[in-house]
Amino acid sequence: MPGPILRSLLAPWWAAQLLTGAKSFLDNPLIGSDRLNRRGLHAGRVKLAHAMAARRRAGLGRALDPADRAAFDRDGFVLKPDFLPPDAFARLRDQLFGWAGPAREMVQGDTITRRYAVDPELLGAVPAMRLFARDPRWQAIARYVASFDVEPLLYVQSILSHRRDAPPDPQTALHADTFHPTMKAWLFLEDVGPEDGPLTYVAGSHRLSPGRLAWERRRSLQVGEAADFLSARGSFRIGAEGLAELGLPPATAFAVPANTLVVADTFGFHARAASVRPTTRIELFAYSRRNPFLPLAGLDPWSLPGIAERRIPLLWLTHDIYRRWIGQPWAKVGRKRPGDE
Ligand SMILES: [Fe+2]
Repeated sequence: MPGPILRSLLAPWWAAQLLTGAKSFLDNPLIGSDRLNRRGLHAGRVKLAHAMAARRRAGLGRALDPADRAAFDRDGFVLKPDFLPPDAFARLRDQLFGWAGPAREMVQGDTITRRYAVDPELLGAVPAMRLFARDPRWQAIARYVASFDVEPLLYVQSILSHRRDAPPDPQTALHADTFHPTMKAWLFLEDVGPEDGPLTYVAGSHRLSPGRLAWERRRSLQVGEAADFLSARGSFRIGAEGLAELGLPPATAFAVPANTLVVADTFGFHARAASVRPTTRIELFAYSRRNPFLPLAGLDPWSLPGIAERRIPLLWLTHDIYRRWIGQPWAKVGRKRPGDE
């Protein structure tokens, strides 16, 4: 924690962060304040963010297939098997798997995650990617679940499990990503078997029920003292007893065939199931997150064509340049194919 002079300089910044997606109980002493959270600061942010998301979603729901909308409102995710026409999917997979692009990798526990930006270079080498990126069904579902009319950040991602001698991957614990509705999506490029570390999701856990709100409030008073670093950074973990207490079912595992699209609100509890052996899962991965307190769904200059597909390289470059201050978990690893070791 900084000294008294720095603290007084930072105070207005910390206060301003309360009206953003800032979520770490460790980095912002107001968010982490027991005194304020007993008076309802965390619970209040959760409630307001959900109310704003519901308002924004109301305007975005018309573009959606009503069945997808009903599924999302009930479960917190939309699952679409056979998403792309078979020939389009085959072309996308063949072009992508044959391409060695500039990869970045991050290690978490024993698992390596490799990512490629879907940027102008990738779109040039893998033109079939546009068949997915521009699909109006994808566009509509992603925007509704995100609660924002913004172009999601799109990556190619390979997850290589059991590659390091280290404690298990922390993503295998059930958690909410943050305190407000937010979107993540996966188009699986290969079959995912039950043993391959599939994504899991607790159906219905995206809803802010009175029980969940009370749980959020309670957790906000405990995360500071627990040794659970990721919860304290604002991604609350939950165990089986917690789910039962909230009346939620056990997690559903998405052991699904290739060409299945899953779009989920990751305020809902989710995890990566532990894989029993070394596996490689290759997928398109997308996410969308904006300030959860914005009243309007649209007006995002970063979503404009020509800019949208340059956001990820720009983001990575910013972290490369300022790594001393903001960190850069994604290391350049040269050119690799998505399926390479
Ligand atoms: Fe997560």
